Amino acid sequence: MLPDIQTAIPGPRSLDLAARLSQHECRNVTFMNSEFPVFWQRASGTNVWDVDGNRLLDFTSAFGVSGLGHSPPTVLSALKNQADQLIHGMGDVHPTELKVRLCEKISQITFERWGQGPAKVILGNTGFESIEAALKTSLLASGKPSVITFENAYHGLGYGTLAAGAMHRFSAPFVAQLSDFGHPLPFPQCFCEQKLPCNPDCLEQLTTLETALRKKIEQNPIGAILVEPIQGRGGKVVPPPGFLPLLRQICDDTGSLLIADEILTGLNRCGSLFACEANQTVPDLICLGKSLASGLPLSACVGTAELMDRAWPPSDGEAIHTTTHLGNPPACAMALAALDLHSKSDLAKHVQQRGSLFTKLLEKIDLPSRGRILGRGLLLGVEILTPNGQPDRAATSGFVVHSLKKGLITLSASPAGNVLSLVPPFNINEDELRYFADCLQEYLTSLPGSIS
Ligand SMILES: Cc1ncc(COP(=O)(O)O)c(C=O)c1O
Repeated sequence: MLPDIQTAIPGPRSLDLAARLSQHECRNVTFMNSEFPVFWQRASGTNVWDVDGNRLLDFTSAFGVSGLGHSPPTVLSALKNQADQLIHGMGDVHPTELKVRLCEKISQITFERWGQGPAKVILGNTGFESIEAALKTSLLASGKPSVITFENAYHGLGYGTLAAGAMHRFSAPFVAQLSDFGHPLPFPQCFCEQKLPCNPDCLEQLTTLETALRKKIEQNPIGAILVEPIQGRGGKVVPPPGFLPLLRQICDDTGSLLIADEILTGLNRCGSLFACEANQTVPDLICLGKSLASGLPLSACVGTAELMDRAWPPSDGEAIHTTTHLGNPPACAMALAALDLHSKSDLAKHVQQRGSLFTKLLEKIDLPSRGRILGRGLLLGVEILTPNGQPDRAATSGFVVHSLKKGLITLSASPAGNVLSLVPPFNINEDELRYFADCLQEYLTSLPGSIS
């Protein structure tokens, strides 16, 4: 359904709540000005209702969490049933049956499906925790502390992930407390629409990268390569199709572990159950989060049983890596229901089709300010450019505010802040996609200097 706007956006109740929040929440958390934000009250499918009664269309899946839509009915009833029985338990001391079933299910859909035998799982709450569990696993397994990462990578904001990630903006204020085990290298970009063999531009990047990788591994105690199969917050950057296979080859040659951060790209978001499958690459460790429980915080670091047992000693009664909420029962119940939906064979294809329809509609916007369409499946981005072809951060954030007034929830991404991040729920329909494309067309046409 298209948006239904009852008041000016933000409406009076949102404005009042913003004023109150600004009194008592730390300044750096919620961005607020006279045009932003709206306060959410409820959500269903692709729709979000704010406290002023406006119905908005969510093109973010609330940070990539609600790919199955907000509150999918079977996930919601799993939550309600579980809430009546047990809300919180003792995840690493006296666990629930749900935790057993969830670890089994995660093993089935990852390494067992990839023909690598059973997997073992470390559950966590937020995405960055699962990456930190993978970093610890790689150190325990290899004895080598250093990790190759990629420029503009985003793995979350814990100290371990800040050190491993390479977004200067987030790490710079804290550098005095960060260790420097991360070795960032440039992330290659695909210029050949994923067609093999790679075109010369893609090949050249991969050749340069291979030399740099092998040199780094020769000169440093590298235990792992940590990578997003498609960079999300870094701007929906799709690497050449030979990239992940190259990393796999180098890890096999050197004994390093390949860690795939599929916190955003996983669970059908990119048109395959996991994004690394599109490039026929099996990582050593895969990290999941965001949409895993379709709305409650839950994450997982997953590796083959062989690797996990090699890395981690048996517990002596005091786990060396755990959290209070590990295996939270309602989150596990929701994840089991969500993974049943994700395992349906036609979902990946559906995402591919919706993604290519959306891409076609965006490509029809024939203006120089509309740069490349980036991403894959329903993890898409649109570059916004100035009349002389430079990244246009102001126009991009301008659209986030403008489109909110038209009932669209959007975000921007990329280091230059000039990529509109388009991560809608999978059940977004054609009319909703057309509405978005029309709003963007109208906005770009209205920019100063636009040739319409
Ligand atoms: C690829 C990727 N990894 C890790 C994270 C961190 O997840 P969380 O914010 O749940 O810690 C994010 C969050 O946006 C992400 O996109």
